[in-house]
Amino acid sequence: MAGDGDGRAGLPRIAVVGAGIFARTQYIPRLREIAHLVVLKAIWSRTQESAKAAAELARDFAPEIECKWGDAGLEEIMGDSSIMGVAVVLAGQVQVELSLKMLKAGKHVIQEKPASGSTTEAETALSIYNSFPNQFPYKPIWALGENYRFEPAFVESSKLIKDIGDMMNIQVIIEGSMNSSNPYFNSSWRRNFVGGFILDMGVHFIAGLRMLVGSEITSVSSISRHVDMSLPPPDNICSLFQLENGCAGVFVFAVNSRSPKILWRVDGTKGTIQVERGVDSGKHGYQVLFSGENGQCQKTFYPFCGVNEELKTFVQDMLAASKDGDHKAEPRSSYVEGARDVAVLEAMLESSVKQGTPVQVKRFP
Ligand SMILES: *[C@@H]1O[C@H](CO)[C@@H](O)[C@H](O)[C@H]1NC(C)=O
Ligand SMILES: *[C@@H]1O[C@H](CO)[C@@H](O)[C@H](O)[C@H]1NC(C)=O
Repeated sequence: MAGDGDGRAGLPRIAVVGAGIFARTQYIPRLREIAHLVVLKAIWSRTQESAKAAAELARDFAPEIECKWGDAGLEEIMGDSSIMGVAVVLAGQVQVELSLKMLKAGKHVIQEKPASGSTTEAETALSIYNSFPNQFPYKPIWALGENYRFEPAFVESSKLIKDIGDMMNIQVIIEGSMNSSNPYFNSSWRRNFVGGFILDMGVHFIAGLRMLVGSEITSVSSISRHVDMSLPPPDNICSLFQLENGCAGVFVFAVNSRSPKILWRVDGTKGTIQVERGVDSGKHGYQVLFSGENGQCQKTFYPFCGVNEELKTFVQDMLAASKDGDHKAEPRSSYVEGARDVAVLEAMLESSVKQGTPVQVKRFP
């Protein structure tokens, strides 16, 4: 990096807190893709060994990366005024506490999903965040990494939805493939997480649904079951839900099935829109199908790029906030959006405990 002659010296700096599978296989590669926009200054893990191993993966595009570990490492990140933002990529049980700690220290935060383990945890966390004294010229941004709201397939479909007329019904079918070959299958925190993979994975599918229909889910009635004993409970859920606009739909989710399928479909009086996970020309992404009044079906494939888009947005928001204290961060990334996804799944799980009794979804204003 002779003299930083490539101009990266003036770029914002961030730290990644966490060196687990997602940090290593998503954050590091995606940060490499946007190395012209942001510098990865440090990576933290509980142990020195894992921090060092993760830092080596980033050395090619972040040659000066520092390894941080343990409580002292966190203090060093909080005290480093050159670090503008922190990505919190940890076990679901500890992310909120760590995010609040970093926000309090004035760091902008992008926290990985799920936003919280419960709506109670999210409500408490939001009230703490909102009560921080204004000691910085800006309010630190609390973004949530859930990427579906940034997938072009959902962005485009949410614009097309007005062309289907009045919504008649919705189907969300998720047949996952969380088996022993999946790198997250053995992840220990997910095994001790209330709601299991239904909550941890489910927030993505609910985020996709809410983004697509543009109307909030108000009530749910569900049955959940534990069928595959190699998975934490529950691993299956069937839910009937109703939107604020009156439309009803079904959400059918198996954490592990033999025939992976992931789709959202909305029928309207003038047309139908469907978003389905698929592969096109070797690229993974979503196929969007739109059938309109003239009976023609329009198909468009959008490769995945949600994680990349949301990180770019976070970097832009950090920079804008440092120039203008009143800058409003992108609402699709806000922590509260993620808390709304958790609220829907929490209501579904609560209804299941009550054998399908309808439950109102908690609101986050
Ligand atoms: C896990 O699921 C994937 C995708 O469906 C499949 O290719 C693989 O064979 C499965 N592995 C096991 C151990 O069942
Ligand atoms: C998870 O653990 C099981 C049982 O110990 C093992 O068979 C499997 O290969 C492991 N899977 C991964 C992805 O590490």
